[in-house]
Amino acid sequence: MEKKFKRTLVTTALPYANGPVHIGHLAGVYVPADIYTRYLRLKGEDVIMIGGSDEHGVPITIKAKAEGVTPQDIVDRYHNIIKKSFEEFGISFDIYSRTTSAIHTKMASDFFRKLYDKGEFIEKTSMQYYDEEANQFLADRYITGTCPHCGNEHAYGDQCEACGTSLNATDLINPKSAITGNKPVLRETKHWYLPLDKWEPFLRHWILDEHKEWKPNVYGQCKSWLDMGLQPRAVSRDLDWGVPVPVEGAEGKVLYVWFDAPIGYISNTKELLPDKWELYWKDPETKMVHFIGKDNIVFHCIVFPAMLKAEGSYILPDNVPANEFLNLEGDKISTSRNWAVWLHEYLEDFPGKQDVLRYVLTANAPETKDNDFTWKDFQARNNNELVAILGNFVNRALVLTHKYFEGKVPEAGELTDYDRETLKEFADVKASVENYLDHYRFRDALKEAMNLARIGNKYLADTEPWKLAKTDMPRVATILNLALQITANLAIAFEPFLPFSAEKLRGMLHMHHCDWNMLGRTDILPAGAELGKPELLFEKIDDSVIEAQVNKLLETKKANELKNHKAAPVRENVPFDDFAKLDIRVGKVLECQKVPKADKLLQFRIDDGLGGRTIVSGIAKHYKPEELVGKNVCFVANLEPRKLKGIESQGMILSAEDADGRLIVITPAADEIAPGSEVK
Ligand code: MF3
Ligand code: ZN
Repeated sequence: MEKKFKRTLVTTALPYANGPVHIGHLAGVYVPADIYTRYLRLKGEDVIMIGGSDEHGVPITIKAKAEGVTPQDIVDRYHNIIKKSFEEFGISFDIYSRTTSAIHTKMASDFFRKLYDKGEFIEKTSMQYYDEEANQFLADRYITGTCPHCGNEHAYGDQCEACGTSLNATDLINPKSAITGNKPVLRETKHWYLPLDKWEPFLRHWILDEHKEWKPNVYGQCKSWLDMGLQPRAVSRDLDWGVPVPVEGAEGKVLYVWFDAPIGYISNTKELLPDKWELYWKDPETKMVHFIGKDNIVFHCIVFPAMLKAEGSYILPDNVPANEFLNLEGDKISTSRNWAVWLHEYLEDFPGKQDVLRYVLTANAPETKDNDFTWKDFQARNNNELVAILGNFVNRALVLTHKYFEGKVPEAGELTDYDRETLKEFADVKASVENYLDHYRFRDALKEAMNLARIGNKYLADTEPWKLAKTDMPRVATILNLALQITANLAIAFEPFLPFSAEKLRGMLHMHHCDWNMLGRTDILPAGAELGKPELLFEKIDDSVIEAQVNKLLETKKANELKNHKAAPVRENVPFDDFAKLDIRVGKVLECQKVPKADKLLQFRIDDGLGGRTIVSGIAKHYKPEELVGKNVCFVANLEPRKLKGIESQGMILSAEDADGRLIVITPAADEIAPGSEVK
């Protein structure tokens, strides 16, 4: 039996305020959380949705330093950008606050102090890197050096991004301070640790026995952490940005960002409901659900519950429906590589199309495995599903009603067997959408809702009321009444998923009331009720628009490749005389064609100022033959002739090769140069 709760507390991972938010954030956390919350609200349940920016942590201080501003400047900037993006996408937080708020600082500080006073921490001294010039301890991210595993010279003190290995700062070869570039020294420092090992038996039982219903990806990750055995975790850091450790002798130390951030959920609830917040956090009849991405699982299923348990008065989450990652066109989304679709940029390019993105991200949500966002799929789902099914059905029902019944809901007469069959199909949708939503299966829920539109579409296509209009108006009335009732159902069913379109649709139907429990009813719109003007809910997206987005990404890719290109080491020196032996010349391409049965080779006829010559070159993958005709190129004129595919090649055309093997032909910087000129 599933437990019945009185109220629901929905939390959403607090995004770091060191950059704007992108589609990965939306797909992984905020859209599913918003669907769930809107659904419960629509059912009239007591639910609140908590969000906010995570404004502490080392990356924020590094960014501030790099820009020569304060960390507060950074978080102010991004908090506002992020908050605005969420508002624009209809993410219906009851509060979106931040971890630099006064309420939070106090809440986090008090929380630490309570655990401290209860003796829930252990104190340990350890050796940590210290920058003697900057006079400060160095957080892992502030130390770079050579990765002992792959030799990457720019590995960080916590991980090597080249090979993905997680590291300790002391593993790095040639460690360097990111602040001064100096070699850091090891110094003793004291920190407080939460002994997770103490909570391991409890966590094992609570998760592995009592929460077998959690998603397999979440359950599996927890199990593997627990099976590895839990260690005490430091909850403080030597840093000057964060919530100060409220203990004497802890000057220069702050709470570790992963200690204070989840407490942000509590602080933000308190900010929202100063008198009632404890009901949501301490009453066992509250159902707490954490919406997060997979990289946050350990913190929400193991560390935060251990903190709450150690404190003693809090409830634990009922579920943590973490998602996997969303990739973009086959590659991992990355802020530093600018490989993302940023929400604010999306809205510049697709104004008013929030629901299209919400739809695509839900239909494609990385619920059970990593998934890929592609612009082609975005276009296909818009054109073939939103426009062709949902939009088309709604539009037909409304337009036909305007055409035959002056825009008033016609009265239904006798139902046929076919009508009843349609109603039967449609009656199942509510239970099935609910069942999926209750189990955090948002893709399936959306599919079911869409099925309702499919049923409607098929009903109109099969009954063809436009053909009956001349002979059987009572029948047309019945058909359109039923179609309009389905439309009204769509306006409810889609409210959690596509809130903007659902609202627009309710406007067209003059539906003032929207309540989940009306779903499945066929008398939502009373006969005789006047309908509004039909407007299109969705519009087709052209190929050219999609191409523009794909090109934008290709440009990003190119820019990244240039940035990342590592030049090959220079070869052994050669005496000048050896160089002088090479006879390099400028030549003009007279003709160029593919070499039959050789997919790499192009055959050139070159004007070399000496009567012309033939050169075969392996650049067919990089140039179309016609592209080079008329161009000047450089070639080695005194290379011994070789036969390639039966053709004698009298020289070699020079090209530059970039990191991924792309060849670019070397051309003189000026067009006017005589064929045969020597390159020296
Ligand atoms: N800022 C973290 C991230 O983006 C998430 C923090 S969630 C919280 O990965 F629970 F700590 F708030
Ligand atoms: Zn490495």
